[in-house]
Amino acid sequence: MIRSVVRGFGAALPKRVVTNRELEETVDTSDEWIVQRTGIRQRYIAGEGETTASLGAEAARKALDNAGLTIADIDLIICATSTPDNTFPATAVNIQNRLGMHHGFAFDMQAVCSGFVYAVSTADLHIRCGMARRVLVIGAETFSRILDWTDRTTCVLFGDGAGALVLEALEGEGTNADRGVLSSHLRSDGTHKEKLYVDGGPSTTGTVGHLRMEGREVFKHAVGMITDVIEAAFTATGTTADDIDWLVPHQANRRIIDGSAKKLGIPLEKVVVTVDLHGNTSAASIPLALSVAAADGRIKKGDLVMLEAMGGGFTWGAVLLRW
Ligand code: ACO
Repeated sequence: MIRSVVRGFGAALPKRVVTNRELEETVDTSDEWIVQRTGIRQRYIAGEGETTASLGAEAARKALDNAGLTIADIDLIICATSTPDNTFPATAVNIQNRLGMHHGFAFDMQAVCSGFVYAVSTADLHIRCGMARRVLVIGAETFSRILDWTDRTTCVLFGDGAGALVLEALEGEGTNADRGVLSSHLRSDGTHKEKLYVDGGPSTTGTVGHLRMEGREVFKHAVGMITDVIEAAFTATGTTADDIDWLVPHQANRRIIDGSAKKLGIPLEKVVVTVDLHGNTSAASIPLALSVAAADGRIKKGDLVMLEAMGGGFTWGAVLLRW
């Protein structure tokens, strides 16, 4: 059977690093509070000329280089984002243009922090159905531009960045030993909208709006939702926590990551954590974390990797893949 196999990875971050200490100068907060509650020590914030599409295109170029491919080899670009350069056209089409690609097709995926998991799952369907042979899957965000910088309960949590994978169709045996995406599990439930949303939009206020979050409420649901989809992936593939080489979670909060790993019985040494470096970069956080762990040699060819995310909507999901 056809499998969607990772052939390359890449990441891009804005030039400017903003530490917790720097935030102390403008927001009523402290490095100690932020580290203790979230594990975040710094985040990258986009400057003039840096946008979701520019960061996404840079991450995509690096993923193509890493894969030893050129843009001519790509059939489809999917960009997961909630912070598009424009309401339309899609950021993926903007990136397609920046990469000089005038064939194939491109579209955005909007599932907030679960966007990258949704995008990998969607890319996998396109590959297995024969609609695309090679797909650039990008998670790119500039959340700094939808934050209310006077709201200390949200503005200290998020950052900007982008990451990308090249997925390629390869023949597999149809067993868990295959490389590539083995199982995807997606969920959403709109009854939780008010707990995490942006208070504007083209069809309501005609403005972009700002992120609003009831942090404690989100926290309450997060671990249960994350473990639900990961257990669904275990059941579907007959695998267990012992089989996993790496858990690469959405990087929202260290306490949520640790709580989920503990509940699943996955030792913390097998969990990739970059929230300390990047903050919560929403749909970009998983591909950024993957790029860090693949570049430093932790994630190796053949490793069994579990991706998971939960975010606004609520949306949540997990993808089990062999690297
Ligand atoms: N600095 C200092 N104090 C603060 C700050 C801050 N930045 N923010 C809030 N506080 C204060 C509050 O005002 C409150 O003070 P009070 O007790 O005097 O009223 C106190 O800290 C505790 O506030 P809580 O909100 O109860 O703090 P909590 O321990 O729940 O931590 C946090 C807050 C970090 C937001 C936590 O709830 C959390 O991580 N929630 C999940 C958020 C999350 O993961 N969101 C991303 C989902 S992904 C997506 O889709 C975008």
